[in-house]
Amino acid sequence: MRTPTTEADFVVVSNRLPVDRSSEDEPWRRSPGGLVAALEPVLQSTGGAWVGWPGQPDVEIDPFAVDGMDLVPVSLSTDDVELFYEGFSNDTIWPLYHDVISPPAYHREWWDAYVRVNERFASAAAAAAAPAATVWVHDYQLQLVPRMLRELRPDVVIGYFHHIPFPAYGIYSQLPWRKQVLEGLLGADVIGFQRVADAGNFARAVRRQLGFETKAGSIRVPVPDELGGGVRTAIAKAYPISIDTAAYDEIARRPEVQTRAREIREGLGDPAVVLFGVDRLDYTKGIGHRLKAYGELLAENRLDVADVTLVQVASPSRERVAAYMQLRDEIELTVGRINGDQDTVGHTAIRYLHQAYPREEMVALYLAADVMLVTALRDGMNLVAKEYVASRIDGRGVLVLSEFTGAADEMPQAIRVNPHDIEGLKDAIVTAIDMPLAEQRRRMRALRRRVRDHDVAHWSRTFLDDLRGVSR
Ligand code: G6P
Repeated sequence: MRTPTTEADFVVVSNRLPVDRSSEDEPWRRSPGGLVAALEPVLQSTGGAWVGWPGQPDVEIDPFAVDGMDLVPVSLSTDDVELFYEGFSNDTIWPLYHDVISPPAYHREWWDAYVRVNERFASAAAAAAAPAATVWVHDYQLQLVPRMLRELRPDVVIGYFHHIPFPAYGIYSQLPWRKQVLEGLLGADVIGFQRVADAGNFARAVRRQLGFETKAGSIRVPVPDELGGGVRTAIAKAYPISIDTAAYDEIARRPEVQTRAREIREGLGDPAVVLFGVDRLDYTKGIGHRLKAYGELLAENRLDVADVTLVQVASPSRERVAAYMQLRDEIELTVGRINGDQDTVGHTAIRYLHQAYPREEMVALYLAADVMLVTALRDGMNLVAKEYVASRIDGRGVLVLSEFTGAADEMPQAIRVNPHDIEGLKDAIVTAIDMPLAEQRRRMRALRRRVRDHDVAHWSRTFLDDLRGVSR
């Protein structure tokens, strides 16, 4: 394995690097995610390193530097991508942790690949970390890394953040490797979750499976004799992630973005109401439920295609996993049916876009949308809800938000929905469309204040402060 030129005092480990490219001839582009924006200042001020997969199979790339961050690529073979990434990560853990919306598959071969690839990430992190460094591991693809890293490097302080839900015990306990995964996570000093409920589910699984004592966010973890023996305390609590709120606000104030928002509405034929949904094309997002509710409102003449358009951006995701292929077929069939039944020559019911857009275009779309529909069946947080609010510098717009998202815990002024209740969802869409301006502004003001005060810098600071408080 290659090692970076210098060892770092702060190391981030995630499945994907913060930059990606589609082929070796392309330049590296910064991944647009909030994680990069949040961690970049911390990495730059500490001369930190980021360990991750560059996103293509079978490429060996030497460590390189981008904007003051040392990037340490971990290579995945075609087999690793199939068994570790598409298999165990995205066809076992992802559906299991999202309340088995799609049935998880359990294959021993996938688990073996998960262990093998987690070992590779752990040894890359161990090689990148300076003595007594802080290492922050991210997300469900790397749940075994904290323990593996602790065994390799007992001197480093280890944080882990879980970006997706942690399921209730009755669901979690299906996992044939449930003990190993808990032990893997408990290698961290601080284990962060999106919601209080996720941290609670984790603590219960630890009590039931491992019999360790848990109390108010701390877990007593026995230390094996070869690592010094005794008991140590791990923290397991909620740190809800957020966005770079100021960046969205700034983009929304640019005149060219506001012009673009007007152009978008004109391009749709200037409907009275624009509804908007944007998601990775994933079965957790409730896109089908949203389309069903909207299609029925049109069919029952509660909405008229001459007045309303739904813009649905569905960005391509995990396209080689069967459940995602099937979902795409279902969604596209539904969109085609609704448009076929409801469109007129001059108006379309749904403008469906199977594409990903740069942040500026997203903000223009948020500004063009009267109603934002977030109808996920289960979602760790849902940053789209926060991005919409951060972009509404005009104080207008209505957020319809599923109660099954982490964001719902923080955004009580949204119109809350249970997306399984199609009649309730239909009523919520109509309520949102009819909401008086004064009430839109009142709700939006409170939502904007929340997202301004709890931005992504607040998230990383809170987590890292707890991690620094850990004594070794
Ligand atoms: C979710 C996960 C991330 C993941 C992202 C995109 O947000 O929490 O860990 O990176 O989806 O999915 P992908 O499979 O393309 O990395």
